[in-house]
Amino acid sequence: MSGAKSEWNNNITFILAMIGSAVGLGNIWRFPNVLYSNGGGTFMIPYIVSLFLLGISFVLVEYAVGYKFKTSLSKILYKVHNRLEPVAWLVLTIVFLITTYYICVVGWDLIYVVLSFTKAWGSNPDMFFSQSVLHDIDSISGITTIVPAVLASIVIIWITAWAILRTNLNDGIGRVSRILLPLLFIIVVIIVAYAVTLPGASTGYLQILHPDWSALMKADVWLAAFGQIVFSLSLGMAIALTYASYLPEGSKLVDNAFFVAFSNSGFEIFNSIGIFSILGFMAMTSGLPFNELVTEGTGLAFVVFPQVLNVMGPSAQIIGPLFFLCILFAGITSIIALLEGVCYSISEKFAFSRKKTATIVCIVGACISSVFATGCGSLILAIFDTFLNNFALLFAVLLECIIFGWIYDFDELISTLNEYSTIKVGKLWKIIIKFILPICITFLWLQGIYYTLSEADPTSIAIRGILLALLIILPIIFTKLPAKDEDYYKT
Ligand code: PFF
Repeated sequence: MSGAKSEWNNNITFILAMIGSAVGLGNIWRFPNVLYSNGGGTFMIPYIVSLFLLGISFVLVEYAVGYKFKTSLSKILYKVHNRLEPVAWLVLTIVFLITTYYICVVGWDLIYVVLSFTKAWGSNPDMFFSQSVLHDIDSISGITTIVPAVLASIVIIWITAWAILRTNLNDGIGRVSRILLPLLFIIVVIIVAYAVTLPGASTGYLQILHPDWSALMKADVWLAAFGQIVFSLSLGMAIALTYASYLPEGSKLVDNAFFVAFSNSGFEIFNSIGIFSILGFMAMTSGLPFNELVTEGTGLAFVVFPQVLNVMGPSAQIIGPLFFLCILFAGITSIIALLEGVCYSISEKFAFSRKKTATIVCIVGACISSVFATGCGSLILAIFDTFLNNFALLFAVLLECIIFGWIYDFDELISTLNEYSTIKVGKLWKIIIKFILPICITFLWLQGIYYTLSEADPTSIAIRGILLALLIILPIIFTKLPAKDEDYYKT
């Protein structure tokens, strides 16, 4: 951040940090459900097409831009065109707000790491989650009740993020990624190896292989594949751009992008074999239909999974804590990546030290996250999630695509990427970024608007109104506030 320019001490640290940023809750609980509901094995076709055509292509844009400018998103967009700075602050505001609730979910998970040792959720995990953990009140009146355990776990996660972010790049994000990523990998291998040996496992994992060819003809399935890639690779969130800006001269950008994208997809596919096997076991033991068990998000992790652990016998004492630790580690490495880009722009514009920026961002973030520690926390969280992810973020990704594809001199990015890479990019990449990607994102965005608008109750409308106001006001304020150092405005 400000002061001496940060740089990764080696390419492995960069790669691990990048994989850590991508591998998160989306891989663990979003992917199995998306895979299952969109044709099982056949989904792999649109998924792989999206990965190459759109995912890796956009990561390459972020790498090229970050590496070329070696600075923060807000300064980069100011340099591209001095009227574009607000777009950077818009992206960063969205990313920051997403982090405030992402941290809450990781906080719930932290509670479950502790609970899993004794299976404290009892015989009705569904009721336990909504009543004993969340103290859920399904109306906005719940805002006045604080849920102490949730608040405490949110604060712990924010303090962890703060402690990592305030430390210099290699000792903070670098070291945490070097420790947590291998651990995450070992845990997932243990879980999957155990899961496939469970009785009934094959009923589950064969679902992944079972093809439904008609799914390929459905536009929804292609959009779901694309949506999963955007979410899973954290596209457009200025993460790849920020991390690539810390790369030393001579880095093989294209090779790195392929490696990171393959690792991320490899992780989610491998992990889903474990999840499906476990659900297969549950279907056999409980007699419940398989499709009722494959849920997404909190339902899978905090309800179905505890139910499985209840019938698993003594090995649940090991598999349970490992599963929740896996989510915790994946979540932490994603959280620090989300926040690093936000902190970088703030510290460059206002010439704050890394420590000071991390402290301010984490305090403000923790205050916002505390809203999710109230009786209506999960209600507000769901509204934040649909609005920010389906609508706001996709809009920002679309803007970034147009800016880098059309406003910026695109050919410069091609030479930046090809300079040291073994794999080269060319005309096809240009066509993808200029035409195919904006068109696909527009479709995804229209679908997102439809989902967002389908929630028309007064609470959602009010919360979306507040979020929209923040997304307009904050970028204007951050743009208007003068930079501490005149150098910021040098183009
Ligand atoms: N890619 C990460 C995940 O799959 O969980 C991180 C992430 C993605 C965070 C999307 C937030 C988000 F909206």
